[in-house]
Amino acid sequence: MKEKSQSNPLREGLSNKAVPQPCAVVIFGATGDLTHRKLVPALYNIAADGELPPAVAVVGFARRPKTDDEFRQEMEEATRKFSRQAVRDEIWKGFAETLYYHQSEFGDEAGYKKLAERLDKLDETSGTRGNRLFYFAASPEQFETIIENLQKAGLNKTREGSWARVILEKPFGTDLESARHLNKVVQSAFSENQTYRIDHFLGKETAQNILVLRFANAIFEPLWNADHIDHVQITAAETLGVENRAGYYEGAGALRDMVQNHLLQLLCLVAMEPPTDLGADGIRDEKVKVVRSLRPFQIDEVGSDVVRGQYAEGAIAGEQVVAYRAEKNVDPKSQTETFVALRVRIDNWRWADVPFYIRVGKRLPKSGTEISVHFKKAPQVLFNRESQALDQNVLVIRIQPDEGISLRMQAKVPGTSFRIESVKMDFHYGTSFGKASPEAYERLLLDAMSGDPTLFARRDEVEQAWKFIDTIEEAWTAKENAPKLATYPAGSWGPEEADELLARDGRAWRRL
Ligand code: BG6
Repeated sequence: MKEKSQSNPLREGLSNKAVPQPCAVVIFGATGDLTHRKLVPALYNIAADGELPPAVAVVGFARRPKTDDEFRQEMEEATRKFSRQAVRDEIWKGFAETLYYHQSEFGDEAGYKKLAERLDKLDETSGTRGNRLFYFAASPEQFETIIENLQKAGLNKTREGSWARVILEKPFGTDLESARHLNKVVQSAFSENQTYRIDHFLGKETAQNILVLRFANAIFEPLWNADHIDHVQITAAETLGVENRAGYYEGAGALRDMVQNHLLQLLCLVAMEPPTDLGADGIRDEKVKVVRSLRPFQIDEVGSDVVRGQYAEGAIAGEQVVAYRAEKNVDPKSQTETFVALRVRIDNWRWADVPFYIRVGKRLPKSGTEISVHFKKAPQVLFNRESQALDQNVLVIRIQPDEGISLRMQAKVPGTSFRIESVKMDFHYGTSFGKASPEAYERLLLDAMSGDPTLFARRDEVEQAWKFIDTIEEAWTAKENAPKLATYPAGSWGPEEADELLARDGRAWRRL
């Protein structure tokens, strides 16, 4: 098979041919989980696919002392473990030479001065042309310190013709106030078009395909509204528990961890109006309108429209697992939710009276993320009789795993009578295109190297989403009448209250 060229490949962006440019990628938090599991394996895969820009240097920045060689070795082990494609020795060898380690405390001014000198040298030896991509994979409490020090070392400024960009990992704040503050801090050093707030769900192939499904096909859009759609469900289920992330998760919970960002982003892609163009702002302008149109909860509605739950002990795939409160570093009286279900309304013309039900949870029986669009029933004439009511048509967008789309429709069972059953028309990425989708981080890193912020969250989107979420948190932490935290056995589909939320509307969650 022909090896793809390594030289400055052109990539189709959403609206343009984006060119990933030579650059130094500085990863703050280089010894952390994200770097090991996602970032370096993603960079390796980009290299293996021949899509890295011709000159790249990856500089890991962290506190622990380590040599370049030790860092390379550690990254090799991590990549062999977590990479999407098996590591090929000859490619790893070339890629490893682009990895460097820079030891410094996050708050040490001198460490950033030395970083600046090192990056200047790399411009000469590696051809990175003064372009810098700063990836904030450290814990969010460090963000402000890092920004201040980058600024002091002049690293937010660039030479003529070069660029500096920051990629900020979630969580982007913990509420509206902290998000606003963080935005202010970031923007004291970097402008909005240098700021890339990552939401890795937007990098998932199937999330991007929502736009294609809706706006590249003529058949769906005319039906995509309150006249034809009964309701929409969005589910993100995980069998995993909190793992070793209690330090972060205890203060976050499922609402802040998943709903404020990933799930609201999916909702926006499903609910947005057609954008005027496929540019970054064309799409993000429409997404932010959706978040702005979310009907805000009144404090006293939160109890009835939002269910929060926490997993108790139970079994996943036949294996006994402990309760959330018994997990390492979790408060035995923790009130943190590991499950949320919400009924959301979008107050605009297109979606008037169409509920969007969102649910997300850890320690559920199955892992899977999907969006299902439930169409209104056929009129009760001809085949759809009271004695034999037909199912709704349901369009399912499987975000992961087994990425694809299916449409449930009615068909006649072969035979001499008129029996009707639901059947599924199914499209699977794996079989239709015969190649594996890239990991979200691969796509997003390339986009940032190419200067394409379309799949990153804009300041107003993030703040607006927090505004919506804050009322729920406020109700949950109220001194009086706070809605109770339900529990559910690990391995179940969440608390009964989540089923009741839909049952009250005469509906039920779709089985994954
Ligand atoms: C992260 C959350 O953003 O997304 C995790 O912090 C969650 O709690 C993860 O497990 C899910 O992402 P994915 O890509 O594995 O579905």
